[in-house]
Amino acid sequence: MSSSNSEKEKEKEKEKEKIKKEKRRIVVMTGGSGGIGLNAVQRIVASKKVRVVVGVRKDRGTMPKQVERLTLDLSSLKSVYKFSVSVKEALDGQPIDILVLNAGTTSQKLTDLSADGFLITFGVNHLAHYYLVRLLLPNMARGGRIVITTSDTHDPKVLSMAGGPTSLDLDLLKGMAYGKSKDIKAMKVYSFSKACNLLMARYLADKDQFCIGQDLQVVAYNPGLTLGTGLGGTRPTSTKLSFKQKVASGLLKGASVFNKAMYPNDVPTAGKALARLILGKAKPPKKKIYASMVKGKLTFPSPSLLVQDDEAVIFLWDESENLLGKKFVKKLPTIILKKTSEIESNEKENEKINSDSSTQSEKN
Ligand SMILES: NC(=O)c1ccc[n+]([C@@H]2O[C@H](COP(=O)([O-])OP(=O)(O)OC[C@H]3O[C@@H](n4cnc5c(N)ncnc54)[C@H](OP(=O)(O)O)[C@@H]3O)[C@@H](O)[C@H]2O)c1
Repeated sequence: MSSSNSEKEKEKEKEKEKIKKEKRRIVVMTGGSGGIGLNAVQRIVASKKVRVVVGVRKDRGTMPKQVERLTLDLSSLKSVYKFSVSVKEALDGQPIDILVLNAGTTSQKLTDLSADGFLITFGVNHLAHYYLVRLLLPNMARGGRIVITTSDTHDPKVLSMAGGPTSLDLDLLKGMAYGKSKDIKAMKVYSFSKACNLLMARYLADKDQFCIGQDLQVVAYNPGLTLGTGLGGTRPTSTKLSFKQKVASGLLKGASVFNKAMYPNDVPTAGKALARLILGKAKPPKKKIYASMVKGKLTFPSPSLLVQDDEAVIFLWDESENLLGKKFVKKLPTIILKKTSEIESNEKENEKINSDSSTQSEKN
């Protein structure tokens, strides 16, 4: 090894030691480079008590310099796998305290496909995040937090025109995944993907029922209709609203008299709420997982009836694994899915064995 390389290695080791000593909480995030996510990132790095790692398609130079950027394109499962490997390498055995799955997209064309042949909206918003969470679950800190950005479009009772799902079966799932069914509309794919975000959040949160056993806190966040982001359009250069958006905002405010979900939120308000959920400054009450912005305030309602259905929760989890296909399933880590109570009793058992063997060795 040349002397400059060994110097670099020493520097790296020093940096690692420094990070360990500082005991900063580790945040791993998708969708931190624009819109609501970027606003949240700007706020959380200011707290200095976090180390933030963001998966980015391309470094747009938008994020604060303290943020560590790793390559991630959620429209490719191969890229998701590679990202999970680089996260593990960068963290060097340190657990993830907070995993934020915020990236999202919506395409009006049902011909826009991911590298693996899924409708881009479904592939990016749900399947890639499902794969990522499964790859990173063993690296989550005990008592860690997962924040998933969803949308109130998932609930047909809240926004009927978005066509959120009322039931779930294999035909519908495959239709939404591949876009081959006749009655699939772009908006429906988006609201379906956002229902999937919530169903996945429920699976991860329900430690008694679904036995993840890591005592994770899980929250699915709906920022509400937020103007001035890049969702489904061109990336804005500023969070200030254009003239057209200001007009739309006025009209939406009027419409919100009849339906609160039409109220136009702004990026700073949506980003601030996301940052508070990430840092645990805002939390849903016990047994709730859904945090929804309504007229600029965080509320904690129940999600749609479909999301409340345990069978749908398990169905989506299992069938999403089937959608990944053998090549990617093969790379999933084996996680021991045990109830927290079993883990605790095993820990007690281990402690007892350790103390028995140390008493024995003292006697010897
Ligand atoms: N805006 C709304 O009205 C609204 C309402 C409800 C829910 N939401 C949800 O809020 C979240 C944030 O959306 P936003 O409105 O802030 O939109 P945005 O400004 O377009 O931000 C989306 C973020 O996701 C990232 N992303 C998109 N596709 C990706 C891919 N293939 N690989 C990696 N990263 C990708 C983008 O990265 P790039 O910088 O590379 O583009 C960007 O950082 C989404 O989950 C969205 O569904 C938004």
